[in-house]
Amino acid sequence: MSTQIDVQNLTLQFRTDEGLVTAVDNVSFSLDKGEVMGLVGESGSGKSVTAKSLMHLNASNAVYSPESKITLYTDTGPVDVLSLRRPSELKIVRGGAVSMIFQEPMASFAPAMTIGKQMVEQLQLHSDMSKTQARNLSIEMLDRVGISDAGKRIDQYAFELSGGMRQRAMIAMALSTKPKLLIADEPTTALDVTIQAQVIDLMKDLVDEFRMGIIFITHDLGVVAQTADRVNVMYLGQLIEEGPVRDVIRQPKHPYTQGLIAALPKLEDLDAPLTPVPGDIPSPLERPSGCVFHTRCSQIVGDMCSAKAPTERELDEDHKVACHLYSDLQTEAVQ
Ligand SMILES: Nc1ncnc2c1ncn2[C@@H]1O[C@H](COP(=O)(O)OP(=O)(O)O)[C@@H](O)[C@H]1O
Ligand code: SF4
Ligand SMILES: [Mg+2]
Repeated sequence: MSTQIDVQNLTLQFRTDEGLVTAVDNVSFSLDKGEVMGLVGESGSGKSVTAKSLMHLNASNAVYSPESKITLYTDTGPVDVLSLRRPSELKIVRGGAVSMIFQEPMASFAPAMTIGKQMVEQLQLHSDMSKTQARNLSIEMLDRVGISDAGKRIDQYAFELSGGMRQRAMIAMALSTKPKLLIADEPTTALDVTIQAQVIDLMKDLVDEFRMGIIFITHDLGVVAQTADRVNVMYLGQLIEEGPVRDVIRQPKHPYTQGLIAALPKLEDLDAPLTPVPGDIPSPLERPSGCVFHTRCSQIVGDMCSAKAPTERELDEDHKVACHLYSDLQTEAVQ
C-alpha cells in the first residue's frame, strides 16, 4: 500500500494570555491509502487540533515548530500542507483531496442556505461542473447516504432535518468531491446509539466503495474497534501508543490505554461499575515533567517516570508504545 498522508514531528503551540500552550507535542504518524485510523484520547488530548493541522486550519494564534511537516500525496504529486498560504492553494486540503465532518452538523451548514445550495457551491469550488451537474450529483450523494426523497430534501434547510439526517447530509457533502482523505471528528458522539451504528455502517460501506483513507476521531475505543484498521492513542498532545486495532485492544501496552479499555462497559457484565482512568487530564499550562501521564499512572517505575520522557519503541510488528515499562525490554532485544 502507498502512503496517503505523512505527519512528521508535528508540534503545535497556541499563544494565549497565560503564555504558550502546547497542544500537540512531536507527533508523527502516517496513513496508507484506503486505511481507517482511529485517533482516541480523552477530551483535551489534542485530537481535533491534530486533525485541523492536516487541513492547515488551526486558529490564528497557532504556532507550528519549524520541524513540523505534513505531506499529502495527491494524484498530481506530494503537497507540503503547512506551506500552503493562499485560499487557491488551501482548497486542496479543505474540501478537495481532504474533507472533514464534525460532531455537530449544524456547524457545517449555514443556517440561511438550503442544503442543496451549499452542496452545489462546494462542488463548483472544487470542480468544473455546471450547476445542473453539481445538483444532480448532490441528489445522488444524498440518496447514497440513505436520505429518502433526496430530490425534495435537497431544497430544505439543515434545521428542517432530524439529527441523524443532518449527519448523513454532512457526510454526503463531504464525500461529494471524492476526497482521498476523510477526517471524521467525533461524528457519532451526538447521536443516539441506533443512528450511531447506522452512520458507522455507512462509513464502512463508503470506504470500500471510494477507497479513501479515514481518520476517525473519538473518545470511545468501542467505536474504534468497530471501524478502524489502526489506532493511535493520544494523551496531553502526545502519541503514547499506536498499532493494529486488534493488537491494541486485546493487548494494550501503555497504562493509559489499559485504563481506557478497562473503562469500556463489558457485554457479559453490564451492571459492573465502570472503571475510568482515575484523576483528571492536567491543564496544558501545567504539563507534568518526564512522562506526561505520571500524575495518573498506577504502574510507575521509579523516579525515572517523572524525570525523563519515554521515547516511542516498537514492541511487536507495527505496535509502538512510549512508556518506561518497556525501556529495558527494548534494550535487551537490541543487545
Ligand atoms: N485556539 C486555541 N487557543 C488556545 N488553546 C487552544 C486553541 N484550540 C485548542 N486549544 C487547546 O488545545 C488543547 C487540545 O484541544 P483539542 O484538540 O480540541 O482536544 P480534543 O479534540 O482531544 O478534545 C486543549 O487544551 C485546548 O484547550
Ligand atoms: S512511563 Fe512511567 S508514568 Fe509513564 S505510563 Fe509508563 S509507567 Fe506510567
Ligand atoms: Mg475534539
